[in-house]
Amino acid sequence: MIAARFFSIKNWEKFVNIKQELIELKEQRLDFQRRVDDLAEKLKLEAEKREYLEYEITKLGRLNTIGQLAAGLGHEIRNPMTTIRGFLQMLQSKSDLHTYKSYFELMIEELDRANLIITDYLSLVKDKPVEFKRLCLNKLLDDIFPLILADAYTQGKKCVFEPGKIVELEMVSNEITQLVINLARNGFEAMPPEGCLTINTYMDAQSIILSVKDEGKGIDKEHISKLGTPFFTTKENGTGLGLPMCYRIADRHNALIDVKTGPDGTTFLVRFPKPIE
Ligand SMILES: Nc1ncnc2c1ncn2[C@@H]1O[C@H](COP(=O)(O)OP(=O)(O)OP(=O)(O)O)[C@@H](O)[C@H]1O
Ligand SMILES: [Mg+2]
Repeated sequence: MIAARFFSIKNWEKFVNIKQELIELKEQRLDFQRRVDDLAEKLKLEAEKREYLEYEITKLGRLNTIGQLAAGLGHEIRNPMTTIRGFLQMLQSKSDLHTYKSYFELMIEELDRANLIITDYLSLVKDKPVEFKRLCLNKLLDDIFPLILADAYTQGKKCVFEPGKIVELEMVSNEITQLVINLARNGFEAMPPEGCLTINTYMDAQSIILSVKDEGKGIDKEHISKLGTPFFTTKENGTGLGLPMCYRIADRHNALIDVKTGPDGTTFLVRFPKPIE
């Protein structure tokens, strides 16, 4: 009888030990599962990062090839255009052709527009030496804000500028002016009348950020990957050179452009690296 009790207590101890081991194993399994989940999440992020970088590299490659071609073409086309413009101007001044004055004006205007497109394109592809100066982005935005407001008024839209606390940046002021004007213009063009464009600046640990936010309908999913490709446009009178120029300028400033878009609007974020003190 005593021996039987003794055995059952021993068995009980064995049972408790096994149970304890089982609990520990279960905890270990949960811990292992957590680590597997963490790793899976990290892998997913890495894959997304890789996809983004591959997309950026493809875009840069495309820009480069088309750019080299266009630089040569641009020069060649400009010369005959200058000759045509000269003859048109001469004919315009002839009194016996006075009835066609408006036609001549239109032809010259169109030639000038074509010339401007070539100028814009050449400025995209040329790596001309430029002078970087340490300047305050808020001061630059303050200076060009009347220009942006004028753009807004002509389209019946609104615009606000909210400067944040930021440090100075190394930049080429006329390039950054061009970048802001292009982003703002796209924002205005995307919005219905009364829409408001918000330009603001702020800073985080690594970057100084310029944000241009509109209240438009957003960018279609299938168009997002084409943003920045020369001549990609969805506008009847668009050229599709505004954004490529912005990407080029951002690149020259070691800045990155992020796009956040949805049915309530689009935000372009230009992230400049914080200068080393
Ligand atoms: N803020 C925005 N909201 C919605 N779509 C936009 C926005 N910005 C750019 N896009 C889309 O990207 C396309 C390309 O823009 P990009 O500025 O390069 O050329 P564009 O505005 O069409 O012509 P332009 O050469 O006159 O600037 C636009 O046609 C438009 O479809
Ligand atoms: Mg544009």
